[in-house]
Amino acid sequence: MVGFSLVRAESAMKRLPAPVAKSAMSLVTRRSVLSTGAALVGTSVVKASVLHAPMIWTPRAGKLVVVSSSNGHHFKNGGPRTCVEEAFHRASAGEDILDSLIAGVNIVELDPTELSVGYGGLPNADGVVQLDSCCMHGAKNWAGGVAALEGVRTPSQVAKAVAEDTDHHLLVGAGAQTFARNMGFKVEDDLNTAASRRAWLEWKRRIDPEHYLDPKKRSGEGMAALLSMVADGWIDPLHAYGTINCNGINEKGELAGVTTTSGLAFKIPGRVGDSPILGAGLYVDGSVGAAGSTGRGEANLYGLSSFLIVEELRRGAHPKDAAMTAMKRIKRNTIEKRLLDPEGNPNFGMEYYVLDKQGRHAGITTNKGSRYAVCDENGPRLEACEYAWQ
Ligand code: GLY
Repeated sequence: MVGFSLVRAESAMKRLPAPVAKSAMSLVTRRSVLSTGAALVGTSVVKASVLHAPMIWTPRAGKLVVVSSSNGHHFKNGGPRTCVEEAFHRASAGEDILDSLIAGVNIVELDPTELSVGYGGLPNADGVVQLDSCCMHGAKNWAGGVAALEGVRTPSQVAKAVAEDTDHHLLVGAGAQTFARNMGFKVEDDLNTAASRRAWLEWKRRIDPEHYLDPKKRSGEGMAALLSMVADGWIDPLHAYGTINCNGINEKGELAGVTTTSGLAFKIPGRVGDSPILGAGLYVDGSVGAAGSTGRGEANLYGLSSFLIVEELRRGAHPKDAAMTAMKRIKRNTIEKRLLDPEGNPNFGMEYYVLDKQGRHAGITTNKGSRYAVCDENGPRLEACEYAWQ
């Protein structure tokens, strides 16, 4: 199949062969890395020499596709590219597909204006930012995740280090942080920004402190305060459970995916959502496809939606139909009144991003009008998600 690839106008790719770009990024999570500073230097080596020139689209064989939640084609952290552009650009230059996707979501993790992912993500109920992430590499059968990780701005890189450098798939809390420190990642005392701390203080102001003694009541009150802050414009509705999931397939047909988040805003400390859990917030099968999610993690944990979607792909379903099956399962499993709207549909946000081995993709949502990000031979763009409850 003939496609198009993003290259620099002055053919910098020829001067920086793919293996060089690849090794610069793979330095990020290998044992030899001494600090996140080094990791970021590794990234900036690529950026400085490859990424800042004007770009043109030129013909190229193969089908390279990157899809993500819509924040993957919005935030740039002051740089030239969004997540899907960056991932596409790197993969088209021959960089490993998972490394490319992680470099893409790093932009979103590091952007302090994105309040639901990485640095500046909304904190937990105690005002501490706890981050969740996992990644899967379909060709290498790699998987790694971290949950409730504090102090590291790019949990996706730590998740990859778990996949690459340990015999495990998931590290959590203090153990994940110690692992990150030992791997050379920079561990900071506080990942709040002025904006995330202001929002947390407002949330504290809105909840009744006497309910702090009753965890069940406390979480109900906490959710009510969160929703009132969404209604009052303090928090973008997409940032309450906001997350980024990014999946890609390269010209060799290799699939990968990554999901990263600060999780539910003002969550009970230690709460882990779907994002770092293989099969819930992300699943990749190198011979079938990739699926990931944003939205209410509890629903995906119950239904293992990403795994279900990939199994539907395996049975031959189109990405849209596969995701619709998972949505129907969510609906069937949601029976508590507090979680239902007047029509009997789940009242929470849920969105799936699905990419199959043929490069076909879909976004399915419970939020009417929502869009998802795509970058392929036709360039980066937002496409309409299918509405789940029609
Ligand atoms: N989907 C993100 C979370 O629930 O934590």
